[in-house]
Amino acid sequence: MRAIVLEKFGGLDSLVYKDIPEPEPKAGHVVIEIKAFGLNHAEMHMRRGEWAEAAPVSGIECVGIVKSCPGGEFPVGAKVAALMGGLGRTINGSYAEYTRAPVSNVALIEADLPWAELAAIPETYATAWTCLFRNLEIEKGQLLVIRGATSSFGQAALKMAVNAGVRVIATTRNRDRFALLEKLGAERCEIERPDLSRHIAEAKAIDAVLDLVGNSVVLDSLAMLRRGGRSCLAGWLGGLDPIPDFNPLLQMPSGVYLTFFGSFVFGTPGFPLSDVPLQQIAAEVAAGRLDVKPARIFRFEEIREAHRVMEANEAGGKIVVVHA
Ligand SMILES: NC(=O)c1ccc[n+]([C@@H]2O[C@H](COP(=O)([O-])OP(=O)(O)OC[C@H]3O[C@@H](n4cnc5c(N)ncnc54)[C@H](OP(=O)(O)O)[C@@H]3O)[C@@H](O)[C@H]2O)c1
Repeated sequence: MRAIVLEKFGGLDSLVYKDIPEPEPKAGHVVIEIKAFGLNHAEMHMRRGEWAEAAPVSGIECVGIVKSCPGGEFPVGAKVAALMGGLGRTINGSYAEYTRAPVSNVALIEADLPWAELAAIPETYATAWTCLFRNLEIEKGQLLVIRGATSSFGQAALKMAVNAGVRVIATTRNRDRFALLEKLGAERCEIERPDLSRHIAEAKAIDAVLDLVGNSVVLDSLAMLRRGGRSCLAGWLGGLDPIPDFNPLLQMPSGVYLTFFGSFVFGTPGFPLSDVPLQQIAAEVAAGRLDVKPARIFRFEEIREAHRVMEANEAGGKIVVVHA
């Protein structure tokens, strides 16, 4: 089969097309004929050698059709999504014609939608849903700040939060993008800045923060919460460096909660994929209540250009790659 292999750590030329053997059926696993896959920052970090692990074939998620499933957990021919479970990290991932994912990391996604749209759902929506409705336990009428809201993750969270009746303040570094965020339902926008808590009128009255800017603003996110409010750290758009000189005694606000979510736990005993309503999310899309359309769609042959666009922050939303 054709696969995109990570030949070395580095730039776009690290991604090389090769013919490699197709994955064989294996107990506890599903072989999937990949129809499309979403791109993720994780793959960029793996390509550059910045992540702890990287498999020769990258790609942490995909959608496609079950080719074999020896345990019978999924019928051959079913439409499925696969994400995490070591894909692209410890086992070969989705940058190929076929992949073999653990049963625990596969879910049915039987909606009558184009593959490119289905491909925009698994990692982004599963993670956004979990952050909002599990970690933050956000509720109708509450006030949520999404930091880094123009990212595909941020936009997914914004759309689902608004659909759930949550009031959202969305941040971006770019004023020109306010209109996009307001169109998606943000009540208001703010320019993303490291000291946002000192400039936001609702500071100390905010119920929750979905923090996709990350380590560089963790403490600032906590500083804007009301007593009992929660911040969920789930993105690192501001960089991967640790918090410098962190001294909780001097820097932590009292009475607020910090929570973390990393999608690598999907499929482990505490975080079964069945917890996430992927099928329902796809049904919402099919019914026209949720728009998951990717911002950019590339062909399998265009992986380097797709990575370039991701790296340059040019996409303005989810990037997916489709097989012809
Ligand atoms: N926790 C998890 O399991 C999980 C799962 C998926 C993704 N993630 C993480 O979530 C983040 C978003 O991922 P994505 O794929 O949705 O990203 P994306 O769509 O590529 O995000 C691009 C946007 O990020 C914003 N951005 C870039 N650099 C920034 C900076 N220094 N400070 C603030 N904003 C910045 C830019 O928005 P503006 O120019 O409009 O500001 C840009 O348009 C990434 O860090 C990713 O690793 C985490």
